[in-house]
Amino acid sequence: MMPKILVFAGLLVCIWCGASASTRQGNNTDEEAAQAFLEQYNALYADLANKYIEAGLRLSEYQAVANEEANQFDPTNFTEDTKRQLSYVGSKSLSDDEMKNLSSIIAEMGSIYGQGKVCRLNPSGEEECLSLEPELTLLMADSRNASERLWAWDGWRREVSRKIKPLYFQYVELKNKLAVVNGFNDYGDQLRQKYEDPEFESDIHSLYEEMNPLYLQLHAYVRRKLYETYGPDVINLNGTLPQSVLGDMWGRFWANLYSIGVPFPDQPSLDITQALIDQNYTITRMFETSDDFYTSMGLIPLPPTFYNLSMLEKPSDREVVCHATAWDFYDSVDYRNGLLVRMRDENSHENINLRREGANDGFHEAIGELMSMIVSTPKHLYAIGLLDELPTDNKTEINYLFQQALSTISTLPFHLLQDQWRWNAFRGYYGNMSSQWNGEFWALSEAIVGVHAPVERTEEDLDCPSIFHVAQDYDMIRYFTRTILQFQFAESLCEAAGHEGPLTDCDFYGSQEAGAILS
Ligand SMILES: *[C@@H]1O[C@H](CO)[C@@H](O)[C@H](O)[C@H]1NC(C)=O
Ligand SMILES: *[C@@H]1O[C@H](CO)[C@@H](O)[C@H](O)[C@H]1NC(C)=O
Ligand SMILES: *[C@@H]1O[C@H](CO)[C@@H](O)[C@H](O)[C@H]1NC(C)=O
Ligand SMILES: *[C@@H]1O[C@H](CO)[C@@H](O)[C@H](O)[C@H]1NC(C)=O
Ligand SMILES: *[C@@H]1O[C@H](CO)[C@@H](O)[C@H](O)[C@H]1NC(C)=O
Ligand SMILES: *[C@@H]1O[C@H](CO)[C@@H](O)[C@H](O)[C@H]1NC(C)=O
Ligand SMILES: *[C@@H]1O[C@H](CO)[C@@H](O)[C@H](O)[C@H]1NC(C)=O
Ligand SMILES: *[C@@H]1O[C@H](CO)[C@@H](O)[C@H](O)[C@H]1NC(C)=O
Ligand SMILES: *[C@@H]1O[C@H](CO)[C@@H](O)[C@H](O)[C@H]1NC(C)=O
Ligand SMILES: *[C@@H]1O[C@H](CO)[C@@H](O)[C@H](O)[C@H]1NC(C)=O
Repeated sequence: MMPKILVFAGLLVCIWCGASASTRQGNNTDEEAAQAFLEQYNALYADLANKYIEAGLRLSEYQAVANEEANQFDPTNFTEDTKRQLSYVGSKSLSDDEMKNLSSIIAEMGSIYGQGKVCRLNPSGEEECLSLEPELTLLMADSRNASERLWAWDGWRREVSRKIKPLYFQYVELKNKLAVVNGFNDYGDQLRQKYEDPEFESDIHSLYEEMNPLYLQLHAYVRRKLYETYGPDVINLNGTLPQSVLGDMWGRFWANLYSIGVPFPDQPSLDITQALIDQNYTITRMFETSDDFYTSMGLIPLPPTFYNLSMLEKPSDREVVCHATAWDFYDSVDYRNGLLVRMRDENSHENINLRREGANDGFHEAIGELMSMIVSTPKHLYAIGLLDELPTDNKTEINYLFQQALSTISTLPFHLLQDQWRWNAFRGYYGNMSSQWNGEFWALSEAIVGVHAPVERTEEDLDCPSIFHVAQDYDMIRYFTRTILQFQFAESLCEAAGHEGPLTDCDFYGSQEAGAILS
């Protein structure tokens, strides 16, 4: 199979997206055998899922016990380190029934999400059903047919978030209840406390205000380009943008609008897929290349077990989830898989789990994005031979900046919106009128992102949980903080490397000074 290289940074490389039920390629045509298999699968799955929930319950029971034990201490005069570790220990839980109910609700939302399919009749009049991965994602990445995009956008929400809606209300109620027994005002309050900043929400809004002028320019530029593509029936040059034309299912990442908006289309391409293929890059070599970047700065190399134990390529013998992740196996030896996580801190070799979290959720995300950004500058690509020439005018650089803006600047308002809506929901701002929940989502979306629903919403809709993170209980403000941190880190590391001039020219490859700070 030809590898599909989405981002080459040696960091986030999702190389083999594309497997799905519709592409199973076996040769066994015996449906009875398949049904027997499914029966066995369902039984085993149910059994294992049950154990999984049971184990989760045991963990939360232990957390409650540990919480009591931690409460015996008065940390007033302890060192900051001990205080902080104690503050992370344990939590109280609700009754077993309620905890089980909460796990089941989240599992059920996940199952609706995972099984969501949108069906239509294809040109030969047969029904075809599209899953999110890969078909709908590809459609939302590539289709320039506004009505087809709208069909996919609307279909996904009918099939997924409408079904999640009743569960989501129960989820909010239980999560809030759990947060309150643990001493928080509500679940949003609990999530924000992870940042250890009492002014977190207003600080985030100040950051948003500060970057908003740049976002407005990007929004206006992209709107003009979308207008040229879709015309006045779809794009109002004076208005907000329909969410369905923004490059993915949610208008989250605009990177796929690059070909619509590239300022200087005749410049050498920044897409290095072909260069990688021509130069016979293997996936292992891609990882070695990125390892070299870190070691050039004086960081320790990856352990040899990384290459043996990671899943760097799609296995042919089973289905796997294609999502770049880093796994820390909590045994101080293994660091495996797609997103390379460096830990140079000596403490990482002691088994102190409480110190293994990122400084905050956005922090390690920012490091990954930062390295990805730095290794994809035209200057660095030229230095490692993946770009044939380094143009002397600034057009390639402006293309690069536009490309970066589409995956960074454009996401800030989006991620703020997602969590602002949830924070307000957890606070109980939307009352018990479900239409108000969704109405507020679109009001915030227009105000913060400048994006509107492309088709009228009804009583039945609840659109925020149409995205994985919301349906599966992951906050998203981390992606806001990471983008801010990414540029702050870039600036400091470039400065440490003695760089002068625009940051787009900076490449801190080989800088021991930057390496010391990074590690
Ligand atoms: C079906 O595929 C398996 C391996 O995937 C192979 O061993 C077997 O010979 C194939 N059978 C037929 C009838 O082609
Ligand atoms: C903390 O230390 C101060 C100064 O030694 C002492 O007065 C105080 O009682 C201590 N507090 C606790 C809770 O131990
Ligand atoms: C959770 O509990 C509520 C109220 O008892 C119940 O209606 C609902 O079906 C339960 N949900 C799940 C997924 O177990
Ligand atoms: C229509 O869908 C069927 C079933 O998925 C498929 O076999 C057929 O090739 C499709 N036809 C076209 C023209 O896409
Ligand atoms: C656009 O998509 C719609 C709905 O999917 C379809 O009916 C129409 O033929 C498509 N138009 C073009 C130009 O492909
Ligand atoms: C946008 O607003 C300007 C100024 O109010 C007006 O002149 C122009 O006609 C409007 N354009 C559209 C497409 O509505
Ligand atoms: C890549 O592999 C091909 C075929 O094995 C070979 O002809 C070519 O020289 C290789 N290219 C490089 C840059 O190593
Ligand atoms: C990695 O795998 C190779 C080949 O299977 C083996 O020779 C080597 O000892 C392994 N290395 C480690 C560190 O496990
Ligand atoms: C790009 O170069 C042109 C011509 O040298 C110059 O006028 C322009 O200000 C430069 N743009 C940027 C963003 O540096
Ligand atoms: C909604 O809230 C109002 C005011 O708190 C209350 O009177 C009403 O019974 C609630 N409706 C439902 C369906 O829970």
